[in-house]
Amino acid sequence: MNGLTAALLVWTLISPSGGGHRGGGEIWPTHVACRNEGLEVFYQSCDSLQDFGFSVDQCSKKLQPHLSIRFGIILREDIRELFLDVLLLTKGASVLSLSYPICEDDLPKFSFCGRRKGEQVYYAGPVDNSSFDVPEGEYQVLLKLYNENRSTVACANVTVIAS
Ligand SMILES: *[C@@H]1O[C@H](CO)[C@@H](O)[C@H](O)[C@H]1NC(C)=O
Ligand SMILES: *[C@@H]1O[C@H](CO)[C@@H](O)[C@H](O)[C@H]1NC(C)=O
Ligand SMILES: *[C@@H]1O[C@H](CO)[C@@H](O)[C@H](O)[C@H]1NC(C)=O
Repeated sequence: MNGLTAALLVWTLISPSGGGHRGGGEIWPTHVACRNEGLEVFYQSCDSLQDFGFSVDQCSKKLQPHLSIRFGIILREDIRELFLDVLLLTKGASVLSLSYPICEDDLPKFSFCGRRKGEQVYYAGPVDNSSFDVPEGEYQVLLKLYNENRSTVACANVTVIAS
């Protein structure tokens, strides 16, 4: 793991939008997860309590089978179990809705499974295995991570622009 990247991620986590008060209705800055010729991915935390760091190592319209991501967050809940809901929209209409288990009690797929509230998670590594081409267009993706009590761990709205 690259120490500088980790430091930057932590900095992103704890220093949101140029000072000012935290509190209700926080609008987090838009971050670039990856940007390359033909593909741009932006995201914004939709959790009013915190922001998080995320990036994709290879940015290509041809999604690679071994996609590497980096993800850093301070946990606001225990994650003995962790689930991800994905909702894909084009032009405001929902086209795909998926739910993945990430940490299960008897099947902790990642080293961070089981971490406790208040701990920092930094993950850099592979996530998925399917390779496909992203068709041209603009997409909205809503992501939500939650634990077994359905308490939000992280939430993001993502814009993907493939040209
Ligand atoms: C996230 O959603 C807000 C409100 O709908 C929107 O203004 C913003 O552009 C979105 N950000 C991204 C990166 O998609
Ligand atoms: C879920 O809720 C139960 C009952 O309130 C509690 O005992 C348990 O610790 C919670 N689990 C997590 C991961 O927060
Ligand atoms: C990807 O698939 C290969 C076999 O097709 C498998 O060996 C590998 O473990 C998979 N990697 C991940 C991250 O799922």
